[in-house]
Amino acid sequence: MIKEVEFVASFPKERMCPTDDKPEFAFIGRSNVGKSSLINMLTNRKSLAKVSVTPGKTQLLNFFNINQSWHLVDLPGYGYARVSKDKKAGFNKIITDYLQKRQQLVLAFVLIDCRHELQKIDREFLIWCGENGIPFALIFTKADKLNRNQLQSNVNTIIKSLLTMWEQLPPHFITSSELKTGRDEVLSYIEDILDQLRQSQDKTEI
Ligand code: GTP
Ligand code: MG
Repeated sequence: MIKEVEFVASFPKERMCPTDDKPEFAFIGRSNVGKSSLINMLTNRKSLAKVSVTPGKTQLLNFFNINQSWHLVDLPGYGYARVSKDKKAGFNKIITDYLQKRQQLVLAFVLIDCRHELQKIDREFLIWCGENGIPFALIFTKADKLNRNQLQSNVNTIIKSLLTMWEQLPPHFITSSELKTGRDEVLSYIEDILDQLRQSQDKTEI
């Protein structure tokens, strides 16, 4: 359950991020994938994260304090040509630095638009996460834009394509920010991980 949400601040690089040890869950995906809408939906706030019409606007690490117990981090979108055309893979240093270095990071949710086939940039990003040992889960966004059959068929196609890279699928969720679909599932998943972390911390303290 999310009872309390507070915007902490936006940071331009990993080494400027908060130094406390709250566990972090990051959200990332291609520009326009519906990340800000999803964060607003999960936190039940209308405009906590700005829903933008200009893709690629956010190039900062945006921190939100949830229930005074964990951080939700809104990462810049990747794959937006104008901000990253000099970068081979299309995702920039602010993102790779954060994911590789951030000790507090528990898991990154990688958002994928369920309406399209897996895009090259998504595939590259997921491969990069795998190679770098970044724990992640997938969120298929904008489920309300498809009917049930189309949704099932698209998700299956994406999953099949992912299984050409990995033997096992990472955890995945289907969401709609319009209809609040998937909200309970994503939040329970986060809660479960936080519980496990607390339990393992209690053990080490004894
Ligand atoms: P950038 O920050 O610009 O990279 O985009 P973003 O990933 O934060 O996407 P944002 O939440 O701003 O949404 C982009 C567009 O998709 C907006 O017009 C949203 O209203 C729309 N959108 C996002 N999520 C959903 C959804 O679940 N259903 C529908 N129908 N539209 C959505
Ligand atoms: Mg956004």
